[in-house]
Amino acid sequence: MEMKEKKSKSKKPWGGRFKKDTDRRVESFTSSLAYDRRLYPYDLAGSVVHARMLARQGIISPAEAEEICRGLQAIGEEIESGSFRFDESDEDIHMAIEKALTARIGKAGEKLHTGRSRNDQVALDVRLYLREQTEALLKLVGDLKKRLVETAKKEIEIVMPGYTHLQKAQPVLLAHYLLAFWEMFDRDEERFRDCRKRIDVMPLGSAALAGTSLSLDREYAAELLQFPRISRNSMDAVSDRDFIAEFIFAASLLMTHMSRFCEDLIIWSSQEFGYVEISDAFTTGSSIMPQKKNPDVAELIRGKTGRVYGHLIAILTILKGLPMTYNRDLQEDKEPLFDTVDTVTAAVAILTEMITRIVYLRPRMEAEAELGFTTATDLAEYLVEKGVPFREAHSIVGRIVAYCLDAGKELAMITFEELKKFHAVFADDVLPRLKAARSVNMKKTFGGTSPERVAERIREIEQGE
Ligand code: ARG
Repeated sequence: MEMKEKKSKSKKPWGGRFKKDTDRRVESFTSSLAYDRRLYPYDLAGSVVHARMLARQGIISPAEAEEICRGLQAIGEEIESGSFRFDESDEDIHMAIEKALTARIGKAGEKLHTGRSRNDQVALDVRLYLREQTEALLKLVGDLKKRLVETAKKEIEIVMPGYTHLQKAQPVLLAHYLLAFWEMFDRDEERFRDCRKRIDVMPLGSAALAGTSLSLDREYAAELLQFPRISRNSMDAVSDRDFIAEFIFAASLLMTHMSRFCEDLIIWSSQEFGYVEISDAFTTGSSIMPQKKNPDVAELIRGKTGRVYGHLIAILTILKGLPMTYNRDLQEDKEPLFDTVDTVTAAVAILTEMITRIVYLRPRMEAEAELGFTTATDLAEYLVEKGVPFREAHSIVGRIVAYCLDAGKELAMITFEELKKFHAVFADDVLPRLKAARSVNMKKTFGGTSPERVAERIREIEQGE
């Protein structure tokens, strides 16, 4: 034993079979310590439970487990206070902690890794981390949804133009527009909840890939770590990163929805639209143009969406060609995941704050809702009510629109006499149908934009559906 230790040149914990030290360039190329140190609270928690389980199984003594747990706690305090000395040559956070533990408590520290591999250890740590982050993110998405409903309720009277192809289409309630995003964020929430079920599976006890000959009690460890399920195949458990890919996908879609919302706010805050005023506190100025007030927060949410998509492609690509089971490539899962968590969390939080301070410029929105032939479809539906087949009605109104365009008129300016020339069924109840508010009031189909329907949806949401 003594002999063997002297012969080994490498200072690594796995150095037994090596005759040379690791090249410094290899150390820095392969090290993940710079970014995986954020896993330390989860690594410590997992190790405490592992030690307690080992003692319970009689694999280590209760006194050793006690020493290990106290040592780990002290290390946690050092990392927290910033006094812990990280060493690049430690490869990753798991090694750094194990080495510090052994330096601190000696022999007992060397027993912690019994029946465990960094392969199941890192899988556990990331799951513990992501479970917590998902919980926090769900709370933020919940706040965002709440803010949308509050605004929808407060601004329930505002009528605005609805768009397709970014061309004015039909009048809608601003509240209906806002609740469209509520629905998107609600689906996002559901996706994260669903993803959490697959994060919540405990891989510890899978060891390197095959399980272990030592009699571990995986159920007990799962219970202490509050996992409802344990993984059922050790080979899958150490190489499964589906939950990471799923999380980044759910985050990508959430970013997509936020980006679309921001895109509208950017357009709406332009001089050309003038539908909203974003608070000074959430905009920035130009270093040269004194008059500028730019919607940078919204633009950055839109821009950061691309970055999260990049992470999704990265994780999928990392996984696609991997031979079973653990391969070092899997270390590359962390930066995309961590950056996704940071980016999406910050974006949801700031979007919520920004929309709370937006002023919706009602007169401008309502004036625009009357312009641009937004009630042409209502006119066609009026004809349908009078018995005209829809295709014919569509064509008649098309001709009315062409007539107005030639005459330089808005549809709202047309007279009853003029309409009469296009079809005999036009009666004096037709002109009110050209008003945006009336148009909105009549959209009573389930899921439509009438104030009654929208109020009904708000009530449902408030009652938790
Ligand atoms: N830093 C590694 C990772 O993040 C930990 C697992 C290393 N396992 C190994 N067999 N080299 O994936």
